[in-house]
Amino acid sequence: MTYIVDEECIKCKYMDCVEVCPVDCFYEGENMLVIHPDECIDCGVCEPECPVDAIHSDSEDGMEKWVEMNRKYSEIWPVITEKKYLLKTLKIGKIKKINLNYTLMENQENK
Ligand code: SF4
Ligand code: F3S
Repeated sequence: MTYIVDEECIKCKYMDCVEVCPVDCFYEGENMLVIHPDECIDCGVCEPECPVDAIHSDSEDGMEKWVEMNRKYSEIWPVITEKKYLLKTLKIGKIKKINLNYTLMENQENK
């Protein structure tokens, strides 16, 4: 048995899942993650961490194609062991804040 990631993960990448995996078996593509089915020890810790319910046990119905997809890409993509999205969010937040301050300053100068 293994856990796998399905299409709900596409473009999400919350990455709460990678932080809890004890065997570091998540792999990162451009717009989603996958789990290596042969490395996953079936502990189930990651499943409740995903806010969009993208992680499933392969014992659920219709998961065969996702197991193959996860296996295929986990052998190509790099491993990911730490959440990265937060960093991106913080950077975007900072830029917005700087832009906002700049706009406010500009408005004051124009008065
Ligand atoms: Fe990692 Fe456990 Fe999730 Fe498998 S079930 S991917 S071992 S956290
Ligand atoms: Fe994807 Fe869920 Fe992890 S959206 S990155 S599987 S927390």
